[in-house]
Amino acid sequence: MSLRINGTEYLLHLDPRTTLLDCLRETLALTGTKKGCDHGQCGACTVHVNGARVNSCLTLAVMHEGDEITTIEGIGQPGALHPVQAAFVAHDAYQCGYCTSGQIMSAVALLEEPCGPNDADIRECMSGNICRCGAYPASSLPSRKSAASRRPCNLSSFAERKTRSAPSPRERGRTPDL
Ligand code: FES
Ligand code: FES
Repeated sequence: MSLRINGTEYLLHLDPRTTLLDCLRETLALTGTKKGCDHGQCGACTVHVNGARVNSCLTLAVMHEGDEITTIEGIGQPGALHPVQAAFVAHDAYQCGYCTSGQIMSAVALLEEPCGPNDADIRECMSGNICRCGAYPASSLPSRKSAASRRPCNLSSFAERKTRSAPSPRERGRTPDL
């Protein structure tokens, strides 16, 4: 099978049960994408598939032939950071950094989503990304600053999406098993 990741085509021989996360980390050594819970609860493994954020621990690699997959390595590099990466650095929006690539991938995707412009909206849109260090106040600021330049929000569409979405870990009041 082949996968297109960060603009590069990879020819792979994979066990069909391999998750996209394990393929990225174990097969391709793209270790910027982190494994936290491995159960879809923490967001550390967030990548983009065709521009939408996806928990890569919850999807099989074989399902993504023909898709455009982007990991944290694909959105910026040292010396040429994505504006969201630069904002996280500028605001010290991390402690151990384990959740940070997932936080950044979600924040980048959020810029194209119908998320409201207020802090509460952004916190809700980012609520699938858990930080065990508790760096939320710092990490919400770069997301908010980056969101300032995005297109006008569509709150009705956002509300509609929310009613369709499964409850986030925060909404369920759960602490993930990390
Ligand atoms: S490792 Fe995928 S959501 Fe936690
Ligand atoms: S900075 Fe450590 S888990 Fe978020």
